[in-house]
Amino acid sequence: MRKELILLLLIFMVSCADNEKTEVNIIPHPVELTVNQGGFKLTKQTQLSYSDPALKSAAEYLNIVLKSVTGQEYTVSQQSKEGISLHVDASLSTEDAYTLNVTNTGIQITGSNPQSVMLGIQTLRQLIPVKTDNTIRVQNVSITDSPKWKWRGMMLDVSRHFFDKNEVKRFLDIMAQYKFNKFHWHLTDDQGWRVEIKKYPLLTEKGAWRTANNHDRGCIDLAEKQSNTDYLLQEDKLRNNGTEYGGYYTQEEIREVVAYAAMLGIDVIPEIDMPGHFSAAISQYSNLACFEKAGWGKVFSAPICPGKDATLEFCKDIFKEIFELFPNEYVHMGADEVDKTNWIKCPHCQARIKNNKLKDEKELQSWFVHQMEDFLNENGKKLIGWDEILEGGMSKSATMMWWRTWAKKAVHEATAQGNEVILTPNSHYYFDYQQDYSTLRKLYEFQPLPKGLSAEETKLVKGLQANVWAEWIPSRKRQDYMTMPRMFALSEVAWSQDKDLNWDNFYQRLLAHYPRMDAMGINYRPLDLNGVHVSNSFVGETTVTWDYPLSTISIRYTTDGTTPNENSSLYTAPFTINETTDFTIRLFRPDGSAADIIKTSYRKEEYIIGEEQGNKIPGLKCEWHEAVVNKSAEIETIPVKAEFVVNEVVIPEGVTNHKQAMKYIGYLKIDKEDIYTFSLGSDDGSMLYINNEVVVDNDGPHGPRTLRGQKALGKGYHPIVVYYFDMNNGGFVELNITDSDNNEIKNGFFYIP
Ligand code: ACM
Ligand code: ZN
Repeated sequence: MRKELILLLLIFMVSCADNEKTEVNIIPHPVELTVNQGGFKLTKQTQLSYSDPALKSAAEYLNIVLKSVTGQEYTVSQQSKEGISLHVDASLSTEDAYTLNVTNTGIQITGSNPQSVMLGIQTLRQLIPVKTDNTIRVQNVSITDSPKWKWRGMMLDVSRHFFDKNEVKRFLDIMAQYKFNKFHWHLTDDQGWRVEIKKYPLLTEKGAWRTANNHDRGCIDLAEKQSNTDYLLQEDKLRNNGTEYGGYYTQEEIREVVAYAAMLGIDVIPEIDMPGHFSAAISQYSNLACFEKAGWGKVFSAPICPGKDATLEFCKDIFKEIFELFPNEYVHMGADEVDKTNWIKCPHCQARIKNNKLKDEKELQSWFVHQMEDFLNENGKKLIGWDEILEGGMSKSATMMWWRTWAKKAVHEATAQGNEVILTPNSHYYFDYQQDYSTLRKLYEFQPLPKGLSAEETKLVKGLQANVWAEWIPSRKRQDYMTMPRMFALSEVAWSQDKDLNWDNFYQRLLAHYPRMDAMGINYRPLDLNGVHVSNSFVGETTVTWDYPLSTISIRYTTDGTTPNENSSLYTAPFTINETTDFTIRLFRPDGSAADIIKTSYRKEEYIIGEEQGNKIPGLKCEWHEAVVNKSAEIETIPVKAEFVVNEVVIPEGVTNHKQAMKYIGYLKIDKEDIYTFSLGSDDGSMLYINNEVVVDNDGPHGPRTLRGQKALGKGYHPIVVYYFDMNNGGFVELNITDSDNNEIKNGFFYIP
């Protein structure tokens, strides 16, 4: 060959060599990941093969996944070939361990069992570009991976609002993509019975339907107020000319969903909540309760009567059918939030207490749980219950789901006596709770294991789970909004090693998952607009800058209080204002759908000069008004139980019960004229006043929520008042203050002795 030709050929080969490295943004982060130069190109000729017959369905699933991206089906065969191949290697010791190797010539996924091969497939999915031209190039990588926690769960409540079998399958699809492996299906509750029980047909014929309740009306109201159709009751869940809401799964549908989940590598754990949260059944079969008129207690529905043998038989009959439908070893029987008032008055219950030498109604509750647990065990099943099963004694074989973050000792107590525990702390893992700018990061950085567990106790913690209660989630779209991206953050916390849990790194990877969600039609919650508070302050004039990390999202706004629509002003670059302006902002996804309304006011202020120091000395006065209130203003009407001096806005140790209605009074010492940002977080409500003006209104009953407001302050001492209350245990309050350079201000409080 002539020299020139060889040279030309060499130049051609070099320019064709694949030296590219496309970004790899896998969530949850794998244990070991090496990104290598080059990539594997998928063509029409690519073969898909599996080396073990047990992998047939995994290979078929992968084919469907690939088809959804490329529009093309591949040849699937059971022989090891070049291309994409799936293998089982039992010597991969850890449960759920897999390896994934992508090279120029092929892709191999090897798992310790078929389920872990599915996990490898999910990782591969995230390596396939969202937008493909005609060739698909998968970045060369070498991955060795296994989970931190065995139990990576999501619970879905289908009682408060109903999600049909296809909606549940879609939920499972997303779970699988982020390596969740336990689906806890909250099938029954006061607001609707959702699983067909052949022996008791009224449970679904009537118990699955209701006329609109408070939550339905609240949702419809929100749909109107927030111009958000995602809050509307879904037409396909209505019957009798829209007068009744509900739905249920036939046993055949349950089986179909369970089989689908199994194909994805997800176990399904049914929950039949009893003895409380059972009124959907009690209202159809009235002899189940203590009295003819079961009714409601202060907060919870009246439970079943554990004093009557017939009630126990009824519950066992239900479980018998449940055992047939759900192959998993676990059955969840709730046992949370039981109002025991009727049990105190009921002769059957009192006879039961006496005959079994029980101390009180708490022990009656645990007696009932034990009866059901024995029945489960006789049928080869294991019991899971919410952490109330600890009260009155828990048997060794029960697994406790810890949800009451405020019941701080529960995990220690349960594990110390040898019980297994799953962590679902409501402070961070309740995905029905509202979201603010801080929610995702707090969830990601939260350490779910309570402090002080021994190594032995820690071993009994099976893993983590988030719960999606559906009182305020009437549609699939709202469900998306509340669960994503929170689910991705939890996925990483549950799967990845501590060494790989890094918020900044996660955030960067998360950005790449938005186009994926767009492609999947997920109605996610977009990331927050940086620097937008409930109120922003400025002096003179200011530049409104809404930095946003996702170019796919359009930011539209109005200044007349109307809800932005697709024709409203589009934010494209920073702009200047010199008057107080109230903005209503909405972020639009690429498909034109809008996220929740954001209201922010940019207030023109002057620097207020503070008072002289006078006799003021360091500290903040804290008054405890011992009461349960639901509005800050009510705190003033309650006498002071005790007074404390604190250094920051915290609940003093001396506050000995959950009736927390607090008022903090003092002065804020300001050394430098500046715009200050106040982040006030609480569960439930709180209010911040400075110089007698509201700076942050975080009032009313709610879950953990942090709001930020600003104030222009001059030098001197500024009167500050914070109100805070908690309605139902487990509250918190915190106030952080930063200056315009984002420096935190500490120890700035003073009070008049
Ligand atoms: C619960 O949230 N009642 C378990
Ligand atoms: Zn009774």
